[in-house]
Amino acid sequence: MTQNLSGKRILLIIGGGIAAYKSLDLIRRLRERGAAVRCVMTQAAQHFVTPLAAGALSADHVFTDLFDRQDEQDVGHIRLARACDLIVVAPATADLMAKAANGLANDLASAVLLATDRPVLMAPAMNPAMWSHPATVRNRATLSADGVHLVGPNRGEMAESGEAGEGRMAEPLEIAAAVAALLDTGPKPLAGRKIIVTSGPTQEPIDPVRYIANRSSGKQGHAIAAALARLGADVRLVSGPVAIPDPAGVAVTHVETARQMRDAVEALLPADAAIFVAAVADWRADTEAGEKIKKAAADGPPTLRMVENPDILAGIGHHKRRPWLVVGFAAETQNLLANAAAKLKKKGADFIVANDVSLDSGVGARGVMGGDRNRVRIVSKAGVDEWPEMSKDEVAARLAALVAERLKTIAV
Ligand code: CTP
Repeated sequence: MTQNLSGKRILLIIGGGIAAYKSLDLIRRLRERGAAVRCVMTQAAQHFVTPLAAGALSADHVFTDLFDRQDEQDVGHIRLARACDLIVVAPATADLMAKAANGLANDLASAVLLATDRPVLMAPAMNPAMWSHPATVRNRATLSADGVHLVGPNRGEMAESGEAGEGRMAEPLEIAAAVAALLDTGPKPLAGRKIIVTSGPTQEPIDPVRYIANRSSGKQGHAIAAALARLGADVRLVSGPVAIPDPAGVAVTHVETARQMRDAVEALLPADAAIFVAAVADWRADTEAGEKIKKAAADGPPTLRMVENPDILAGIGHHKRRPWLVVGFAAETQNLLANAAAKLKKKGADFIVANDVSLDSGVGARGVMGGDRNRVRIVSKAGVDEWPEMSKDEVAARLAALVAERLKTIAV
């Protein structure tokens, strides 16, 4: 993805959190890409970084006070809120998110957020307990419904407490990428197209604490969702449990089991295309124990009886409301092409993107699942197209272009 932001004006609102130090780096990253950056800092932010530093890095005046007579006369908070292409809030603290969700405007940052008619991207950063608190969960839902975009937070250790969990601000490069995605003015051949993507593993419960899953990281599926969104598609991602953030500009439904994934996908029909990247568990335990299975139970280790999960791809491939284009993935360790061709037919897909995950493929199952690179072949009725080894982002971009090409002939 190109990340040229030349000529773009970004208003960066720096909230009061320890992650504010990363926002100084973000200013540099955005300017490196050609953007002009102007900063607003909350009172709390100034406990962590100074307006002097933000001003030096942005090469612009830093705005801090709603009631600054000079600033109000020169620019004014309404103009400040609108004289930009995008507002980025980083770090977006629990407090700033709560204010924005509820339309409060008692300081410059919140007044700007209320007065703006520009897109807003927030990079939340807070303690994991604050992030998962019902109040923040409510505020996030409100902000999403209001059209505010989020990037992150990521999982990891918190700077101040050493606690691990979700709440760490996205890295400056991730935020810069999200900015580029939102401001992207490239061609939009998929505008008006609704596309469903599944991604990640599924988790099939054994008892309240145990489950069966696999090594899928969701990287390839999420990259495909992001690539389709960049081409203008209305992307509906259905994701199993993954450790990576939701892609920017994509509506995500989070599920755990194969059956939940199937229900979520069916509820999203009709769609123009559906791409099944998820590594769905083929089997689940036929019953989920209501209580944790104890080791000391009478007869030694329990025997798990497995039953087959619904095949989501096959269900949609043969559905009466089948999307125009149905794409499946196949991870094979042997007879890649024969198996992929058989799957194409059995599952009713137009394409199978076949991964060779055998150990001698160069990438290998451990390499593909969780790694950043992939080598695929596109199997269709027309034959086999072999793509060289490339990054998962490149595979995603090429696949998105292929989807756009295929849908071109079909009326929106
Ligand atoms: N898939 C699905 N639902 C399932 C299993 C698989 O939607 N219950 C989809 C995957 O998302 C992928 C494709 O089917 O697009 C291929 O999955 P794979 O596990 O390779 O195929 P299987 O049908 O399980 O065949 P095999 O076990 O023989 O490899």
